[in-house]
Amino acid sequence: MTEQKKNSGRLGVWLVGARGAISTCVTYGLAGLVEGLIEPVGLCTETDSLKALELVGLEDIVLGGCDICTRSLAESAGELEQQGVLPSALVAATAASAAAYEARIVPGLLDQSEGAPVAADPESERLGALPVKEQIEAIGAALESFKEETGVTRVIVVNLASSEGQRETPDSWSSLAAFEAAVEAGEAQPSSVLYAYAALKAGYPFINFTPSAGSSIPALRELALERGVAHAGSDGKTGETLVKTVLAPMFSGRALKVLAWQGYNMLGNRDGQVLEDPGHKAAKLHNKDQVLRELLQDDELHTQVAIDLVPSLNDWKTAWDYIHFEGFLGAKMSLQFTWQGSDSALAAPLVLDLVRLVDEAANRGTAGALDHLACFFKAPLNGGTHDFHAQHDRLLTYAAKS
Ligand SMILES: NC(=O)c1ccc[n+]([C@@H]2O[C@H](COP(=O)([O-])OP(=O)(O)OC[C@H]3O[C@@H](n4cnc5c(N)ncnc54)[C@H](O)[C@@H]3O)[C@@H](O)[C@H]2O)c1
Repeated sequence: MTEQKKNSGRLGVWLVGARGAISTCVTYGLAGLVEGLIEPVGLCTETDSLKALELVGLEDIVLGGCDICTRSLAESAGELEQQGVLPSALVAATAASAAAYEARIVPGLLDQSEGAPVAADPESERLGALPVKEQIEAIGAALESFKEETGVTRVIVVNLASSEGQRETPDSWSSLAAFEAAVEAGEAQPSSVLYAYAALKAGYPFINFTPSAGSSIPALRELALERGVAHAGSDGKTGETLVKTVLAPMFSGRALKVLAWQGYNMLGNRDGQVLEDPGHKAAKLHNKDQVLRELLQDDELHTQVAIDLVPSLNDWKTAWDYIHFEGFLGAKMSLQFTWQGSDSALAAPLVLDLVRLVDEAANRGTAGALDHLACFFKAPLNGGTHDFHAQHDRLLTYAAKS
């Protein structure tokens, strides 16, 4: 009998926030790649440096997921077509696989404490109002149905849902026992945590692309280790923060003193609408601010990031950064950059990279937070440096040793 490779068979990828802008670009982009209609631009796992890894083939990825909205996938695609992000020819040519994916999207958990960021479907409202234990069971059952109906051999859950607001850390997050007792007692939990718990409990890796708590809390880190499951997060590093973590090490490397680093972001998509709320904005800004203070090793650094909603920009985020710095003889100088990028087009290939890399690590039997994937995140679960060059070297070293 021939020995089965651990990564044989198809991989199920279950997207939370399945009709959001990033998920929509993942869906049409993946179909386009598989059908040879687009090039793998922006996909790190298609570069020679990561080719040595035994990654699942793109054609072996089956997408499913959940959402709480009444908006159809076709409507999400239509928005992105209008904004010049998704090419209309690609949407038309991959309509059949998109329809098959849409049929695999089930209602999610509408988090009552978040309020609905979008028009929510009644079944998601019903599920979100159940006792927490039953919410977890509903997600567990949805994951099992997805696996059974698609015949995939393994599943990875990716959180691509709207960002949650910043909250006080409850005592129940400090250990798995305390968390499970709180669930039994019906203590409310953010939906990102419930999705992560259901995935890890079932033995499925979890990727948190959002700034929400997800699997980052101590209780779920413990669960991942106990169940021997890999997880990765948090908050994808796709644009302005990516540039910051490339540039900041340059100032340190040349012993130039950064006096101030101001950032101003404008965005107009649904993510921007959610971030209009001060609680949600705080979660995002925390991740953005931490990065520079750590990189420049200056807790007193004058750094601020502002985010404003500018609806007409849609998915095209614009970030302007002003860096005031001092050189030899006290000479004051400045560097400014402007980043204009389609947030969803930047994020979607990274989601595919993460899925393939987490699957590879899981197939090797790696459990817990994956530190070689830090270069993909603004707030890597294992901490460590935010220096993109060092983080990327870590990934290349991992790949070279395989
Ligand atoms: N695009 C980027 O560059 C980038 C970078 C880092 C992080 N992120 C994060 O990725 C996430 C997705 O971004 P997007 O632009 O696709 O947002 P989006 O608003 O277009 O999509 C989010 C989707 O999540 C759904 N949703 C909300 N609450 C849910 C719940 N409880 N369960 C299931 N579905 C739920 C919404 O209905 C929506 O369809 C956001 O949290 C964003 O902050 C994006």
